[in-house]
Amino acid sequence: MANSHQFLSRRLHSLLGLFPIGIYLIFHLLANHQATKGPEAFNQAVGLIESLPFLIVIEFVIIYIPLLFHAILGIYIAFQAKHNVGSFSYGRNQMFMWQRITGIITLIFIAWHVWETRIQFALGNKELNYQMMADILSNPAMVVFYTIGILSAVFHFSNGIWSFLVHWGITVGPRSQRLATYLTMGIFVVVSFIGLRAMAAFIQ
Ligand code: HEM
Repeated sequence: MANSHQFLSRRLHSLLGLFPIGIYLIFHLLANHQATKGPEAFNQAVGLIESLPFLIVIEFVIIYIPLLFHAILGIYIAFQAKHNVGSFSYGRNQMFMWQRITGIITLIFIAWHVWETRIQFALGNKELNYQMMADILSNPAMVVFYTIGILSAVFHFSNGIWSFLVHWGITVGPRSQRLATYLTMGIFVVVSFIGLRAMAAFIQ
């Protein structure tokens, strides 16, 4: 019974990493990328999201609850990880380790990011707009922090797709796993570019 519970929660953890958390990550970076067209375009995108009915319910169901579940179980998995030396190549074992390290860095980054944006807005201390992000990123230390946070979240997501495909029995043999490595490396490069270009658009 305990084992089937553990199996189900690991499956749910894996699934949530991709749907909805991974999909939300892509959506979020694409929305931020609107800033490359200027402050007005970004403010319009934010306004559109803010105008959605029941936004707070949507945010909790699609983002906060799945992320909290994935993060809490993720911390547990990260600290009890058994590294599979022998089962996978040296490179894959490194990726396995980085999956856990980037999970922790991403958690710290998201907690800080949500605190200084969404929560400050909810407390009535800030407006959610282009200027808010420009003010945050006027501090060079924050540019470094955001660069590490974005790269960490995107690596975790891209490499997570590789392990998702293995966990769900989609890539079984070495050939399909090698192909998945190229595919997920491509995803890492493209999504990192979108995320970092979006960030750069706020640096004045
Ligand atoms: C942007 C937010 C996040 C996204 C998009 C995301 C996505 C993913 C994906 C797609 C997987 C692969 C699932 C699988 O192996 O089948 C995964 C695995 C994992 N995630 Fe996340 N995740 C995020 C945040 C976090 C956080 C905050 C933690 C907390 C430490 C975390 C810890 C883990 C761990 C430890 C694994 C490996 C699970 C395993 O190998 O069994 N993740 N994540």
